[in-house]
Formats: sequence, structure tokens, C-alpha cells
Amino acid sequence: MSFEPPIPISIDFFKYYVTDIEAYLRGTDFLVRDKEYPPKYYETSKGEKIVIRQATVDEADVILEPLKEIMDLGFDKDFYHLVAARTYSEILAWKQRRVKDHVALVAVHGNELQALVNFRLWNEKLAISLHTITFRRKERLGIVSYTAKVEHAFEVLGVDEWWATFESPFGFRMGFRLVHGMKPYPEYQHELGGGRVFYITKRDWDAYVKAKVEKYLGSRPVPEELYKESLNLKPPERLEIEL
Ligand SMILES: CC(C)(COP(=O)(O)OP(=O)(O)OC[C@H]1O[C@@H](n2cnc3c(N)ncnc32)[C@H](O)[C@@H]1OP(=O)(O)O)[C@@H](O)C(=O)NCCC(=O)NCCS
Repeated sequence: MSFEPPIPISIDFFKYYVTDIEAYLRGTDFLVRDKEYPPKYYETSKGEKIVIRQATVDEADVILEPLKEIMDLGFDKDFYHLVAARTYSEILAWKQRRVKDHVALVAVHGNELQALVNFRLWNEKLAISLHTITFRRKERLGIVSYTAKVEHAFEVLGVDEWWATFESPFGFRMGFRLVHGMKPYPEYQHELGGGRVFYITKRDWDAYVKAKVEKYLGSRPVPEELYKESLNLKPPERLEIEL
């Protein structure tokens, strides 16, 4: 359908280059650019030091590998299939600049990817949690990584509110442990499929949430060698997601 302009226009055809259009299609990253999460490490029950650090967009292809493997009916347990499919699309959109102010953090053992979390900023005040997925279970790497992204949003990026939604019982359990409140539903809907919005305010984080998850916060600074090794990121050698 085309519309006649209400007044005459001097010419009736413009030629655009794809490069002219690109700026309209891409999400911006002004709010997260140059605001790096200070890396830390978490010690597992076996004494392994797992580095939790910000991922770079150059690492997107490595991150996509395990997600692609799990994005399959064979992994239709504990919502791994669905979460992998959604997270795959988010990481791909990040790589191809189709998401606004996206941040991904990775949990890394040696140089092996163990867990992934991501979120994005709606604006300076509001962070939208996207996904949490661990490729190795029973070591609390999921909740450790989730706590890290909440910490990043409040303490580095300075938001006032964190909005999550939970797709799985194990995800809900993380939310429960971080004492999220719930916005009235369906008046408020999360961008992930219109799910319920579970939220934490900065005041809650400072007043009691952070203290409640203290054991998942890990330690700083990361020993230099350990950090360096984590930069040579590789996909997990095997998936350890069966309980
Ligand atoms: C949600 C998720 C990130 C949580 O990760 P996590 O915090 O590391 O927890 P795990 O999945 O390893 O589950 C560990 C819990 O399972 C339970 N558990 C472990 N082994 C068990 C067993 N053999 N029998 C019964 N329960 C067991 C324990 O309660 C344990 O918690 P604890 O360590 O506090 O004791 C992870 O389950 C995941 O990636 N799931 C798929 C994707 C998903 O659902 N993401 C969230 C979307 S909202």
C-alpha cells in the first residue's frame, strides 16, 4: 500500500544503499559500552576455580556451539531445549547487532565454557534479564552466574530495577532464592513470551538480596594466569546436564 504525500514533493524516487539503512536496523550499545564487569572466580565443591567474566561479541560463535547442540528434541528435559533455542537467537542477534544494550557473562573452567547468562538494558534504569543456562550442573554454576548478572546490572551499570521471568522450575528456584517480587500480571508482561515479571529493586539488592546470596558471589581478583586462560574460550568438552 502506498500513500500520496499531503503536499507535492520535488522528486518521487530516492535510491538508498544498504549501508544507509543499517543504522536503522541495529540495536545500540551506548548504555553498556565501556562498562566492563570486573571478573571474579567461584570455587566449586571440588576446589576448581571457575572464572566469571564478561563475554565479548567475538566469542559469540563459541557460545553458539553448545546451544546449537542442546536446541534439539533430545534435550526436552528441564526446559533445556527451549532455553537453548531462545538463547541461541539472542546470542546470534547480539553478534549481528540486532539487540539493544546486550550483555553476556560466561562461567569458564580453564578455557572451557561452563555456563552462560545474558540480559539487556531497556534504558538506564531498567535491566531485562534474558537467559541463564549451565552446561554443567550440580555445582551451582547457574545461580552463581545469575547472581553475577544481577550484580553487574546494579553495581556496574547502575540500574534501579531488574526484571526477570522464569521458564523452568529450576529457573524459578533461582528467582525464589534471590527473593524476587512479582508485578501484577497480565498488566505487566516480560518480553520473553509475555511471561510474569519477577523483579528486584536496587534497594532490595542492597538491603537484603545481596547478603542472602553472599555464598554465590565468588571472589576477586582473579589470578592473572587463570583469567588469561579463560580468554581462550572453547565450547564445553561434554555436557553434564543430567541430574
Ligand atoms: C536453571 C539452571 C541455570 C540452574 O542451575 P544451577 O543453579 O547450577 O542448579 P542445577 O540445575 O545444577 O541444579 C542443582 C540443584 O538440583 C538439585 N539436585 C541436584 N542433583 C540432584 C539429584 N540427584 N536429585 C535431586 N535433586 C538434585 C539440588 O537441589 C541442587 O541444588 P543445590 O546445589 O542448591 O543443592 C540450570 O538448571 C539450567 O541451565 N537449566 C536449563 C535452562 C533453564 O531452565 N534456565 C533458566 C530459565 S528461567
